[in-house]
Amino acid sequence: MPKEFVLKHLELLALHKLNVFHWHLTEDQGWRIEIKKYPKLTSIGAFRKDSMTAPRTKDPAARKFAGRPHGGFYTQDDVREVVRYAADRGITVLPEIEMPGHAMAAIAAYPELGNTGKPIEVLTYWGITDHVLGVTDNVLRFFEDVFDEVLELFPSKFIHVGGDECPKTEWRNTPSAQERMKKEGLKNEDELQSWFIRHFDSWLAKRGRRLVGWDEILEGGLAPGATVMSWRGEEGGIAAAKAGHDVVMAPTKPTYMDYSHTELPTEPSGIGGYNSLEDVYAYQPVPKELSAAEAKHVLGAQGQIWTEYMPDPKRVEYMAWPRLVALAEVLWSPGETRNWADLQKRLATHLERLAILDVNYRGRFNPPD
Ligand code: ACM
Repeated sequence: MPKEFVLKHLELLALHKLNVFHWHLTEDQGWRIEIKKYPKLTSIGAFRKDSMTAPRTKDPAARKFAGRPHGGFYTQDDVREVVRYAADRGITVLPEIEMPGHAMAAIAAYPELGNTGKPIEVLTYWGITDHVLGVTDNVLRFFEDVFDEVLELFPSKFIHVGGDECPKTEWRNTPSAQERMKKEGLKNEDELQSWFIRHFDSWLAKRGRRLVGWDEILEGGLAPGATVMSWRGEEGGIAAAKAGHDVVMAPTKPTYMDYSHTELPTEPSGIGGYNSLEDVYAYQPVPKELSAAEAKHVLGAQGQIWTEYMPDPKRVEYMAWPRLVALAEVLWSPGETRNWADLQKRLATHLERLAILDVNYRGRFNPPD
């Protein structure tokens, strides 16, 4: 998404008192942040040959493609501008550098970061792949160098390292990964992933920062300082809070804003599933399973907008609004004061304001977009 759109989005977040912008900057399909020490991350990793289009399918033969290359990245000057623009509006930018899965763009740029050493391309379709980072000392040093530059750019106390959806197939078949497990006394590949995350947990802690990861980081044992972002439901967040870790609640239902607004066939085709405005408004970010003391570990909740099925900023706005209006109220009001009938009345004013701000919220235009 263009930098100008990121700035406009931040302005809207500020108007709704949404005070953290989680910026997912690296993926299998593109590396989007300039790193001076490793220029190929963007000269190679920021560009792909093609892009899968809707409808979503898991059948490789059925995938459809746009038929044109796609790419781009934010320079360090762009990043500084975004971080400053956000800070001026009371928003912290939380950067995410994905490891050890969802890192194919980095491996395409520097094949030695992978497990096979073989060249791969920046991925053109969406999903999960077996190509993940290796667990060698060189990979650790490489990402420490990346984080050196990331910490310079982002004053955020928290730094997100991803950790989700990392298949262990390559590690099972890679001698250096198996040797690492033996040397470190790790029982299985889940513990190997935890070893990797633990390394960056302590590395960040030494620099006064705190690691955040998606809830898969629980699987091989949670790193001592880790904060968990609970996306596959609430269970990961509940387990982490009970173990004394901070958590951010981000369950697919109802906080994934890449899910459709309704189940109507007229909705733009996307990732699948839906979260209605009413579902979002009914959300209680503090799970009832937590005691008052455990509940203090819930730092907040977050709405997710993954953009693989959103071809342009207009579609992002369509998916985000007005659901973020509801989420903002969820996050800034005691649950018992919420009233759906009342929100529906007040929504008219919200929509009028969004229209004046040129936001393509759902319902503004018919047909959509
Ligand atoms: C995620 O949606 N894979 C965090």
